[in-house]
Amino acid sequence: MATAETGVQAASPGTGEAAVRVRDLTVVYATARGELPAVAHVDLDLPAGQITGIVGESGSGKSTLALALLNAVQRPGRILSGSVQVAGVGDVVTLGRRALRQARGGKIGYVFQASQSSLNPLKTVGKQLLDLGRSHDVADLRQLIREAKGLAEEMGLDPVRALGSYQHQLSGGMRQRVGIIFALVLNAHVLVLDEPTTALDMLSQALVLGIVRRVHRERGLTTVIITHDIGVVAELADRLAVMYAGRIVEEGRTEEVLASPLHPYTAGLIAAIPRIVGDPNRSRPLSGRPPDLTTVPPRGCPFRERCPVAMDVCEVEDPALVEVPGGRRVACHARGRGVAVR
Ligand SMILES: Nc1ncnc2c1ncn2[C@@H]1O[C@H](COP(=O)(O)OP(=O)(O)OP(=O)(O)O)[C@@H](O)[C@H]1O
Ligand SMILES: [Mg+2]
Repeated sequence: MATAETGVQAASPGTGEAAVRVRDLTVVYATARGELPAVAHVDLDLPAGQITGIVGESGSGKSTLALALLNAVQRPGRILSGSVQVAGVGDVVTLGRRALRQARGGKIGYVFQASQSSLNPLKTVGKQLLDLGRSHDVADLRQLIREAKGLAEEMGLDPVRALGSYQHQLSGGMRQRVGIIFALVLNAHVLVLDEPTTALDMLSQALVLGIVRRVHRERGLTTVIITHDIGVVAELADRLAVMYAGRIVEEGRTEEVLASPLHPYTAGLIAAIPRIVGDPNRSRPLSGRPPDLTTVPPRGCPFRERCPVAMDVCEVEDPALVEVPGGRRVACHARGRGVAVR
């Protein structure tokens, strides 16, 4: 077996080591009603070498959580409390400005949600790569460009053309791949992809996901993929974390979560996946709408209004995320009381 392959396996699943450890993380935004949490008391481990999918409807706090992994939440938001331990870096929440700048890109690469392109429209991709290198005090900029060209090739892009292009000359799928080049060119080992395929057609979507899978494996990365589309991560992610109203409501190995969801919200998301094979009428959209910051009930379970198995206790007590046998976690009062969630 090739050494590269062996190296990847050494850093892969099964070691039980977390590359990123999020503890009791709360992120708030200032609103007319005061500071309200978009991410509330989140505990999450990103196991080294694995792909973790974070799913949930629009507004559930996915992007806010992703930004907090780099301590990059913008005003009017701020991290109110908690910690984000990144292996080899420390707690990014308490890191000084300079160390934080080095960690972003150097240790953790971030690809922005497709709509908010991070590319500068007035500069070629190559020029922006040089800017990135300079801002990270890279001594050998030629090597950086060589590395970028290598990555471009790995992702099926013509390296000279990709680096010589302006943003408007790239298709959506190309832009996402260029985003990944920026995220990885400084040798980051943690890759955070926020909705990497949302703006893409089906074919480009499949292409980008295939590339993500390959680059993840070949480079032994720890990857986070954020999406509102559970179908996107179903085949890609080793683990799945489901978010609702800023909380993680369920988490576990992807195939187990999909085969037997423990939270009624997860069951609802799965039932809503459009079916290409079989009876399309079997897909059932989730009824109701998710709450935003101002409409999350101050107490009780935030999902209860849409929940088919809600009980009295759900009105008054926000269920804690508890570990259940099999290395899974779920936050639901119905769990353990013999109530079937689907
Ligand atoms: N700058 C901001 N000011 C005030 N509230 C904000 C701000 N950014 C986000 N929010 C609120 O925080 C909550 C979480 O937003 P976030 O963007 O993290 O969700 P998301 O899960 O990424 O959604 P989407 O799927 O639409 O990208 C939402 O209720 C949103 O309205
Ligand atoms: Mg988002």
